[in-house]
Amino acid sequence: MDKLDKNAAWKRRDFIKTTFTATAFVSLGGLDLFAFPSLEKTIKTVTLNNGVKMPILGFGTMDLRDALGEKCVAEAISLGYRLIDTAFIYSNEEAVGKGIKNSGIKREELFVTSKLWVDDMGYEKAKAAFYTTLNKLGLDYLDLYLIHRPRGDVKGSWKAMEELYNEGKIKAIGVSNFDNKQLDDLIANSKIKPAINQIETHAFFQEEKAQESLNKYGIQMEAWAPFAEGRNSLFVDKNLSLIGKKYNKTNAQVSLRWLYQRGIIAIPRTSKKEHMIENLQIFDFELTKEDMKAISKLDLNKTQFPEWT
Ligand SMILES: NC(=O)c1ccc[n+]([C@@H]2O[C@H](COP(=O)([O-])OP(=O)(O)OC[C@H]3O[C@@H](n4cnc5c(N)ncnc54)[C@H](OP(=O)(O)O)[C@@H]3O)[C@@H](O)[C@H]2O)c1
Repeated sequence: MDKLDKNAAWKRRDFIKTTFTATAFVSLGGLDLFAFPSLEKTIKTVTLNNGVKMPILGFGTMDLRDALGEKCVAEAISLGYRLIDTAFIYSNEEAVGKGIKNSGIKREELFVTSKLWVDDMGYEKAKAAFYTTLNKLGLDYLDLYLIHRPRGDVKGSWKAMEELYNEGKIKAIGVSNFDNKQLDDLIANSKIKPAINQIETHAFFQEEKAQESLNKYGIQMEAWAPFAEGRNSLFVDKNLSLIGKKYNKTNAQVSLRWLYQRGIIAIPRTSKKEHMIENLQIFDFELTKEDMKAISKLDLNKTQFPEWT
């Protein structure tokens, strides 16, 4: 092979390597190899305050239980999702664990989050609950473990989580549904600062002030219910549709892109393969400043889940 041939061969090899990695996981889902050429090679990551990298887009699993949960998790991973969000209270950790196993993807390529439920708060109970979660998932470590809600013995639970973190059983520890005061209390009484605060965030509850304070704390914000579960007609909201129309994108994609551009991790949940794919297609367009401004006007500045507060 002369030099030119060799160059061409290398170029072809590089093309195949990059293009294939970009689309291989799509083809695993039974789709055409080049069906989604715009899908990025890997989902971008954010670096948490302890140096751990976490995908900025993941897969939520609430309500996906038993055989459905198992199937959806395996399918989501085959399509390219690497961050999987579960919790003890979702009663699906076993199903999620089976889905992970069935996906055939190496454990170290995945980022698995679970959460400590309110009934298990306190030093001893938190430790036991963590091992129950780990056993149910069939894993030997978690990437992220969160205090699900600021209830009961937060201090004792956090101490247990700090110890598990120091033993290498958890790569990062964090909280969910904490306000500033609850974060202040926790930080004042602990050795390790939370890496994450997972809170309700979507177009109708934008939590801009919370994001400002989390930035000051050095805590990464993660959005739960990025679609508000479709409440307030998010999927057909005409303001979001008007923006989406410019880019040939759906309201779901505009919502996820808007979170991505704010630097917020999102974990949309779906039981449908076409929605799993759709929700990944957010890296090939960019919302303008005007689009972002128009979305910020949709903020109702209140929870869409009053029954949970
Ligand atoms: N920390 C906490 O307290 C907390 C609380 C709630 C949730 N979470 C986590 O956050 C995750 C996401 O929140 P969520 O599950 O409450 O709600 P969500 O992701 O806002 O919405 C889920 C709903 O959106 C639909 N959907 C998904 N993609 C769609 C698309 N492209 N087009 C149209 N409809 C679509 C799904 O229906 P289909 O199945 O029909 O697609 C499902 O009904 C949860 O699964 C859980 O992991 C955490």
